Amino acid sequence: MKKNALITGGIYYVGANDRRTTLFEGLWPLPMGVTYNSYLIVDEKIALVDTIEISCFERYLANIKSIIGDRQIDYLVINHMEPDHSGAIGLIKREYPNIQIVGNKKTFNMVQGFYGVSEYLYEVKNGEEIKLGTHTLQFYMTPMVHWPETMMTYEVSTSTLFSGDAFGCYGALNGAIVDSDMDVASYWMEMVRYYSNIVGKFGGPVQKALMKLADLDLKYICSTHGPVWHDKIAEVVNMYDRLSKGESDEGVVLVYASMYGNTAEMAEEIAAELSAQGVQHIRVYDASTTDASYILRDMYLYNGVIIGSPTYNGELFPPIESLISKINMRDFKQRKLGYFGSFTWAGCAVKRLSSFAEACDMDIVYEGVEMKQSLNNDSTEQARALARAMAQAVKK
Ligand code: FEO
Repeated sequence: MKKNALITGGIYYVGANDRRTTLFEGLWPLPMGVTYNSYLIVDEKIALVDTIEISCFERYLANIKSIIGDRQIDYLVINHMEPDHSGAIGLIKREYPNIQIVGNKKTFNMVQGFYGVSEYLYEVKNGEEIKLGTHTLQFYMTPMVHWPETMMTYEVSTSTLFSGDAFGCYGALNGAIVDSDMDVASYWMEMVRYYSNIVGKFGGPVQKALMKLADLDLKYICSTHGPVWHDKIAEVVNMYDRLSKGESDEGVVLVYASMYGNTAEMAEEIAAELSAQGVQHIRVYDASTTDASYILRDMYLYNGVIIGSPTYNGELFPPIESLISKINMRDFKQRKLGYFGSFTWAGCAVKRLSSFAEACDMDIVYEGVEMKQSLNNDSTEQARALARAMAQAVKK
């Protein structure tokens, strides 16, 4: 057993680091890796909470056996069925054939569909309990945090919440498991990025879940990704509360793409004017070179966004088209929006950005600024006017 596997009375970490996968969900960069967390609760009866991504199974099983040896596991609690956590259900079932899979109706539909398991299913409803001995598991249904079947499990005797994806972050663990034993600085922005990439569409359900959990005494939060939270619980819960309410700081994310530098030049004019107007937090990104993962993260941090694109074959430039599709899949509340674009012989980018702006929930601060071929006095002045309108709109 690893020296630091014991988290608190009878609860052990049995998860694994993954520093090899480069894209989470095939989409989101993992420069610091990721963890798949799973936990073992050892009592008269033994419960395993969630599993891990299947490629890590061998390490996972070794972790489990190092703690319980040849003892059998009584329950496998499935808080979330996305395969980064459910991937090892079939292999665990093969190793522990009598294990009872604990979940809700929606869980079991997915267990059968993904893994062909339809026996030894133990259905729980909101508020129901399972006693393991001195440990008691209570179940809270938290749908859409992040899938419909999502639930959370609270262990009463240790005040430990097994929260699924909620409160999780990118980043492998570097030796320590619990926040009190490590420097957590590098995980904060990775938590915002994780929220914005994975859970960002579901601000409303996150708020409902937070309300449901509000009266619980929390000493440990064991999520499925990143550190176990103990010392920093207040900060972590506050961060999720802010993100899911749509709260943000004063600042502007200015994202553009540019083939030959003309749209980039307009972006630089806008950035300079934002600064001249006193905006302190300005994040300028070229969508061709910065992954959307980071741009979405910053859009959750700041209350203003400006998007610029050249016209390309009568459409938006593809990196901006792709970014907009990702923005449309998320829940951005209380954001101010500006947009600009360019063309050579027939304008289209600004029209497309205008349709996007009209359809989304953000407040448009200025009509789209359009530039033909390159900046001139008139388009420069328009770009600055957009920046002034945005600076005014984001001030708190
Ligand atoms: Fe970490 Fe929604 O799975």
